[in-house]
Amino acid sequence: MNELRKGHVLGIAGSLRRGSYNSMLLRAASTLSPPDMELEVYNGIAELPLFDEDLEARANGGPPSVTQLRDQVRAAAGLVIATPEYNQSMAGVLKNAIDWLSRPGPDEVLIKKPIAILGASGGRWGTRLAQANLRQVLTATESLVMPQPAIFVAEAGKVFSNEGELLNDVLRKQLEKFMQGFSDWLTLTAAGELAKTRAQT
Ligand code: FNR
Repeated sequence: MNELRKGHVLGIAGSLRRGSYNSMLLRAASTLSPPDMELEVYNGIAELPLFDEDLEARANGGPPSVTQLRDQVRAAAGLVIATPEYNQSMAGVLKNAIDWLSRPGPDEVLIKKPIAILGASGGRWGTRLAQANLRQVLTATESLVMPQPAIFVAEAGKVFSNEGELLNDVLRKQLEKFMQGFSDWLTLTAAGELAKTRAQT
């Protein structure tokens, strides 16, 4: 079992694209986290096979790429998920990762995991529908999704340079506030869990 690393959060971008705006968004967020928080960006999403219950059973919970992600999620105090929008929903690669992580019982690492979500798209709506869809899925996994602040990055091609540098000061401030908000959410959810545990004993 991996020890929970306080203040250590894992960022997952739901895109395989080399020039992914969502990966850029996470990298920018990692430089704007408060001092008590460290955001590590996960880079193995392309290695995850398509979810298959037969493979899950054969490989005792999943192949090494899945086990490694599961261990990283278990050890993280929280997740920051940056979602693209494909056809008004999250991308298949992200849903695939979530499906692997939601199983097998009782090792369901997303239960009670604090999660912050944001997203970037080249269009004008900034992943509003994909984020709504992601929130619904994370209700099924019983995760603790931060209600606010929210970040919807529209027209992302104007916000980042080709090299992924964040060019927009308004978004920089929003990201700082978002990461501070997530640090507060980690404190709040941990306190809630502690209170519940005490009430049960
Ligand atoms: C898109 N895109 C898109 N954008 C949007 O705002 N709403 C949508 O419904 C869709 N649908 C959609 C479907 C498919 C198949 C593709 C390939 C693209 C645009 C998409 O959000 C944009 O390409 C983002 O830049 C993808 O995220 P990354 O790869 O930059 O992180």
